[in-house]
Amino acid sequence: MCGIVGYLGTEQAYPILIKGLKRLEYRGYDSSGVALLNEGEIEISKCRGKVSDLEDHLAGKVPEGVVGIGHTRWATHGPPNDINAHPHASGDGTLALIHNGIIENYATIKEELINRGHVFKSDTDTEVLTHLIEDIRTKTGVDLFEAIRLALSEVHGAYAIVVIDKKNPDMMIAAKKSSPLVIGIGGNGEFYVGSDATPIVEYTKNVVYLEDEEVALMDRKSGLKIVTIQNKEKVPYIQELEIKLETLEKGGYDYFMLKEIYEQPRSIIDCFRGRMNLQKGEIRMSGIDDNEEKWINAKRVIIVACGTSWHAGLVAEYLFEDIARLSVEVEYASEFRYRNPIINKDDIVVAISQSGETADTLAAIEMAKKQGAHIFGVCNVVGSTISRTTDSGAYTHAGPEIGVASTKAFTAQVTVLTLMALTVAQKRGTITDARLHRLIAELNSIPDKVTEVLKTNDQVEYISDIYKNATNALYLGRGSSFPVALEGALKLKEISYIHAEGYPAAEMKHGPIALIDEEMPVFVIATHGQSYEKVVSNIQEVKARKGKIIAIVTAGDTAVKGMADHVIEIPKTDETLVPLVSVIPFQLLSYHIAVMRGCNVDQPRNLAKSVTVE
Ligand code: F6R
Repeated sequence: MCGIVGYLGTEQAYPILIKGLKRLEYRGYDSSGVALLNEGEIEISKCRGKVSDLEDHLAGKVPEGVVGIGHTRWATHGPPNDINAHPHASGDGTLALIHNGIIENYATIKEELINRGHVFKSDTDTEVLTHLIEDIRTKTGVDLFEAIRLALSEVHGAYAIVVIDKKNPDMMIAAKKSSPLVIGIGGNGEFYVGSDATPIVEYTKNVVYLEDEEVALMDRKSGLKIVTIQNKEKVPYIQELEIKLETLEKGGYDYFMLKEIYEQPRSIIDCFRGRMNLQKGEIRMSGIDDNEEKWINAKRVIIVACGTSWHAGLVAEYLFEDIARLSVEVEYASEFRYRNPIINKDDIVVAISQSGETADTLAAIEMAKKQGAHIFGVCNVVGSTISRTTDSGAYTHAGPEIGVASTKAFTAQVTVLTLMALTVAQKRGTITDARLHRLIAELNSIPDKVTEVLKTNDQVEYISDIYKNATNALYLGRGSSFPVALEGALKLKEISYIHAEGYPAAEMKHGPIALIDEEMPVFVIATHGQSYEKVVSNIQEVKARKGKIIAIVTAGDTAVKGMADHVIEIPKTDETLVPLVSVIPFQLLSYHIAVMRGCNVDQPRNLAKSVTVE
């Protein structure tokens, strides 16, 4: 989703802004722009397309200045074009502003401003906010900081903004509500701003995460001042960034997605760290240990999430119900937040989010919080809004996930959710020591098994070549392999634009079987376990209708091998943990098919890495 970068300092701002925008490309966008303040003038340059298009557009006439802002826009109001791209200027040309989020009452404000003579060039809510700030400043004579504060108290919705002003070349102002914003504090009075830490980490580790409804003045002379919309001064809380620059680079892989797929043995181990003690056969999770009574007495767990994180939640439903004997409901956050759901004080709401910024998940948390539930967050991005909003939680420690299609975040989420289910099961006394030890040992073996499955890459590439031109695909699984089927289908559709559906294998005969013919690839998880024979029957049903079967099987399987067109073997794994291993070939498959179809693997069309609007 939209990205923000800002710089105020002593260096030329343009290279810093462009580099920052490139680091933010992973969020998904359709246009970009920069505004630089130089010798009392603001120069705005923006265009539809990639940051490289903006660079081409500016080749030979690079804007100068030591103060500037840059933006990648993901269209919400008005189509992606040069005019709607940010930054936007005020009517008198004194201000330039960039904005992430949505101003919900922009239409009413726009009408009032038009009545007062304002003329708008774009379709955006952002331009309306820029004019509103200008209007307040001119009308009341207050300074810009106060004008911004007053303007923001009139708007409804979500925003993260950065403003520069040609009347005040020594300062930059930022503010946020429901959309993240980080301020980096460099040496020599330098300031950096980012919609996340990625454009900042190269320059400074000292950051301040703005809270909702805070306005920050960054001044070359007087430093950083933070005031709330309600006009209360706050002491900036400076934190140290933990991410390393190397983790943001591609490290020799063609795409971030491939790098992230291959990082999974490591990222799963990172999830274990400090939590799993193999020798003692023990798991400790501080977020659960600190709220032990709540988990012991909980009547129900409600999981809220979106997309891939929702699929991880579905896997967790099997884990919690089976291991911890705790009833689980898994909800799309977007539906849950508007459904007037019944939430009891002894419910625990688990919010799963890689980015920790997903607007719907955040809204679901806030609603559940008001109704008294304990909220537990499973987030990847440290310091993200969700991780700060929840009562307790566990980070997935997968490291930055840059590819828009989630891969290592999914396996990290399932790993953490497994550790949680085991921790809760120990506390609730629902697991025998023997099973606990067996599962801990099995979990410990998962990184090696994932490494083993990654060796099927060439075979998966070969299969991808055969099915790359399919127009539809079906993914089937039973039990906790059903969410993996959903995840496989999502991966294929989102990066290769092939229509794909995931189904519980037995549901096929209630409808989707009508689609099966010799053109239809059917990807089936047919690993050994309690529903193996049933899945074998489902495979036969597909074969009887000439569908093509690509099956993920347990190493050494013979029955499915005899029926399927292709089999991909994965190491024998306890049924409870199979999703962590069986998802890998599906990730590789969608990656290869997308590459073969010439798709933009890391930044698929219309998609954003962090969905900060509902
Ligand atoms: C799919 C994907 C999305 C996200 C979803 C939730 O590959 O990445 O479906 O899983 O937008 O995002 P988070 O986990 O950041 O809340």
